[in-house]
Amino acid sequence: MYTIQTLNKISAEGLSLLERDKFEVASEIKNPQAIIVRSAKMHDMEIPSTVLSIARAGAGVNNIPVEKCTDAGIVVFNTPGANANSVKELVLAGLFLSSRKITEGITWAQGLKGQGAEVSKTVEKDKGGFTGPEISGKTLGVIGLGAIGVLVANAALHLGMNVLGYDPFLSVDAAWGLSPSVQKAASLDSLLAKSDYISLHIPQNDQTTNLLNAAKFGIMKKGIRIMNFARGGLVSNKDLLAAIGQGIVERYVTDFPEDELLGNPAVIPVPHLGASTPEAEENCAVMSVKQTKSFLEDGTILNSVNFPNCSMERGNGARLLIANKNVPNMLSQILAALADNNINVDDMVNKHRDTVAYNIIDVSQPVINEAIIKKIAAVDGIIRVRVLNKEV
Ligand code: 3PG
Repeated sequence: MYTIQTLNKISAEGLSLLERDKFEVASEIKNPQAIIVRSAKMHDMEIPSTVLSIARAGAGVNNIPVEKCTDAGIVVFNTPGANANSVKELVLAGLFLSSRKITEGITWAQGLKGQGAEVSKTVEKDKGGFTGPEISGKTLGVIGLGAIGVLVANAALHLGMNVLGYDPFLSVDAAWGLSPSVQKAASLDSLLAKSDYISLHIPQNDQTTNLLNAAKFGIMKKGIRIMNFARGGLVSNKDLLAAIGQGIVERYVTDFPEDELLGNPAVIPVPHLGASTPEAEENCAVMSVKQTKSFLEDGTILNSVNFPNCSMERGNGARLLIANKNVPNMLSQILAALADNNINVDDMVNKHRDTVAYNIIDVSQPVINEAIIKKIAAVDGIIRVRVLNKEV
């Protein structure tokens, strides 16, 4: 029986894929083997040593201590693309909200309650205070062309915008999906200088925190409108408020409201709704559950952010799953430990990513005993060893 802890509400359609006789799932479980999480902050959490994997039902993993997990051999997954359409739709709404004074207009119209026949007259008399430009023909700069950025860029083209894209890490898959009409910005600064609208679609990390700061606001056209449905920390709030004061930023639509931004008429705060559609919640839950299930049951790694993708068809005997430091002489020591105990390897795969490597080793015999596992685990550089014995 595997135990899985959920740290946020995870869509039932996903959890229902876990057979009751094999998986126990609950929000309160003492020593789970796996965790499934959305935005719950895990940095200060004591992660039990029993945890083998953490699946982020969503895209951003900045709520998870990924480096610490890598050192402990914990595989961290996310669900790239599973909520991309949901976020794209809200970004498009953000584009319109940033252009036309829709939110102010609605609030103002609600305030006319009780004025009877005067309402329509007042509306026609004063609506001029809420005009705003069309997006068609304007330039949108999309920073980050992953699953979401590509959808936003393509959709904006269909809305008649000129689209500039910037992504130094563009993947082949993303490039396949990107319309050839999206123009490649020569640099981030060139994109910032040419755009009337900007949409952020990059993860937040040490390199991208406060990416939009005073120096970058200084490059932008006056009256720019910025959409941030990626992470609040990508923008320096202090510098943003100054840029609003200087008339550089006309509107800032953010899915990450923070106290210092609230009440500023140029800021449109949305309560982190990017992925909050039943469709996205279900897609993310299904994907994170499938990844967790096949990792627990077979050691398969798919869509990890810290370990290499790795899978192998299951043989007839026991399976060893080993995470180790990506240094020379590891495999030879593992295989020697097996050979010393007369264990025959049927099939194996070894993959690496940055500082770690991961091995799936299928052996002929159905059971590998604890003593051998301990011996392998004691080898310098081995991070984690797990065995999936065959029922005998
Ligand atoms: C993400 O990173 O996938 C989005 O920010 C959605 O976060 P949520 O799952 O907490 O809504």
